Amino acid sequence: MTRPSLVATFPMRNEPERKVYDRGYVRSLFDSIAFRYDFLNHLLSAGVDVFWRRKAIGLLQPFHPGRILDVATGTGDMAITAARKLSAEVIGIDISPEMLRIGRSKIASMGLRSRITLTEGSAEEISFAARSFDAVTVAFGVRNFSDLQQGLLEIQRVLKVNGVAVILEFSRPSISLVEESFGFYFTRILPVVGGLISGNADAYRYLPNTVGEFPAGTDFLSILHSAGFKETIQYPLTFGIATIYIGIKR
Ligand SMILES: C[S@@+](CC[C@H](N)C(=O)[O-])C[C@H]1O[C@@H](n2cnc3c(N)ncnc32)[C@H](O)[C@@H]1O
Repeated sequence: MTRPSLVATFPMRNEPERKVYDRGYVRSLFDSIAFRYDFLNHLLSAGVDVFWRRKAIGLLQPFHPGRILDVATGTGDMAITAARKLSAEVIGIDISPEMLRIGRSKIASMGLRSRITLTEGSAEEISFAARSFDAVTVAFGVRNFSDLQQGLLEIQRVLKVNGVAVILEFSRPSISLVEESFGFYFTRILPVVGGLISGNADAYRYLPNTVGEFPAGTDFLSILHSAGFKETIQYPLTFGIATIYIGIKR
């Protein structure tokens, strides 16, 4: 795996200072843990991640999207949830070929190949025409973007007018006892268990590092605003451990 390299510490105007990793490093990190990603995801979140994705897709239901782009689709769990809950065509993009390979075989085994297509691509340079999707989803992806503002502007560009972006991301719990317990779990237990099972402890140190510094709550809403999204709203989940953000393109 390539060594971590920082691209910037404050990539956009109203974003708090934070470390941002370059795309090559992030790609090789996810390539290296792809074979254990689904197993560890469900184990380390005790299955709550499944409920969070369902909730996020449920919020899309009233919009009746016909065509959805799932950015940073990874092994396709958000795309699969969308295809199952909504009668939509879903395209997933991701920078990690290994995550996509595992996603494609899952989709084939679920008989969803005619509804979901996964293809390599980055959030910062989306290879689809302007105004080509009714909705864009991102689950646990935005904090990994090497350029958050560029990624959000690209999401804006490919959305149709009145299209909706649904972004699910880790955030910081509002109750201090939950924040402390979660912080201990995230920084002490998760890297050890994740490292042992995936063989890559660095990857599971990367997770708390990126979550701790990533803008959450109203900070993220104002970033969405400055990328041009309107009627932004947040739905904190499970004591604020994760949050769903919604923004509309008008
Ligand atoms: C934590 S995983 C989330 C995967 C999936 N969305 C889920 O809910 O399980 C983050 C994914 O973001 C991808 N990723 C990171 N930076 C990206 C970028 N700039 N453009 C597209 N995908 C990116 C990684 O390769 C990885 O598959």
